[in-house]
Amino acid sequence: MFPTEQLKGLETPFYYYDIDVLRATLKEVCEQSKKYNFHVHYAVKANANKRLLSEILEAGLGVDCVSGNEVQCALDNDFESESIVFAGVGKADWEIRLALKAGIRCFNVESLPEAEVINEIAGEMGKVATIAIRINPNVDAHTHKYITTGLEENKFGIGLTELESVVDAIVKLPNLALKGIHFHIGSQITDMGAFQALCTRINELQRWFEERKIRLEIVNVGGGLGVDYEHPDKHAIPTFEEYFRVFHKFLELRDGQEVHFELGRAIVAQCGSLVTKVLYVKEGRKKKFAIVDAGMNDLIRPALYHAYHKIENITSAEATEQYDVVGPVCESSDCFGQAVVLPKTQRGDLIAIRTAGAYGEIMASHYNLRKFAPSVYSKN
Ligand code: LLP
Repeated sequence: MFPTEQLKGLETPFYYYDIDVLRATLKEVCEQSKKYNFHVHYAVKANANKRLLSEILEAGLGVDCVSGNEVQCALDNDFESESIVFAGVGKADWEIRLALKAGIRCFNVESLPEAEVINEIAGEMGKVATIAIRINPNVDAHTHKYITTGLEENKFGIGLTELESVVDAIVKLPNLALKGIHFHIGSQITDMGAFQALCTRINELQRWFEERKIRLEIVNVGGGLGVDYEHPDKHAIPTFEEYFRVFHKFLELRDGQEVHFELGRAIVAQCGSLVTKVLYVKEGRKKKFAIVDAGMNDLIRPALYHAYHKIENITSAEATEQYDVVGPVCESSDCFGQAVVLPKTQRGDLIAIRTAGAYGEIMASHYNLRKFAPSVYSKN
């Protein structure tokens, strides 16, 4: 799948994006979501690469933003303000102002103090802000604890025990229009039972709102659909069909309600790989290290979450050996994989670290004053 000969001449490391994989993923997510008239917002936090955003815009998705700069980025990349939703526990005043000025579709509000500030700023600007309240549903996503967000101990959303007092206060705020409820239970979720449990909780909450005569137009179920990090080629396209079917089957909707999804990883993870060159093979007493020219500053997921990424040597076909694949950064955690079985590897070989399209390039840093890896696309 990699045009190895073309890639050999390029300066490394770089992110390689396979546009055909992205297009096939977008086609499938659109087809499957349209069956039920579901609205998909792409979570820009997963990757704000301009080329990718242009494909996502073309496919007709909206966007989910978590900062003022993400809102600005969406506007700069021609997304309609009506297709932008804005979440996050700590929205600064300037970010709220920017989103109000742009006229975004909805603020996902995570606390009463935040609602009060949006109300105040909207009042100053002579606007009414459409909001959905993010409810922490206390549903376990069965995923890594760092990317679990829907449990009581997490900082996100309004807890079920506070809901009544917060809603009572919010409906009194004159410059807010409470139009929806929002949830996000975590990321890299592969157990569809977690989404089913979310639907059950949403159904209970819908009844609760109905009793209070609050009409909800938007039910935003967040994102979180996982991808197959072990088999990026066999399962290049996530299980959108099954995923949307779960929500269709288990969510009890009222007439005219829109269901919103905020998918990040599932859209962009499989189209991206971090391509890096082997600088040295170092033989230790206990193991061999393949030292590559990409580091944890380029892709932090293995160091931060002990995340698994498939590693391939795309230029050697010799008999296999085991290597720890490590970067040049001065940290022991700068390791992409331990005891990785690769064809015999030597200086100059190209290594692809797969499924790196989501939370890869966007989480890069300048640590060790290293430069940002550029992007290369399979087609212009
Ligand atoms: N909506 C909200 C409110 C979120 O917080 C997130 C992700 C999403 C949607 C998109 O979730 P996705 O469909 O991509 O799972 N850096 C971590 C992932 C952090 C996810 C943060 N929130 C990683 O590399 O695994």
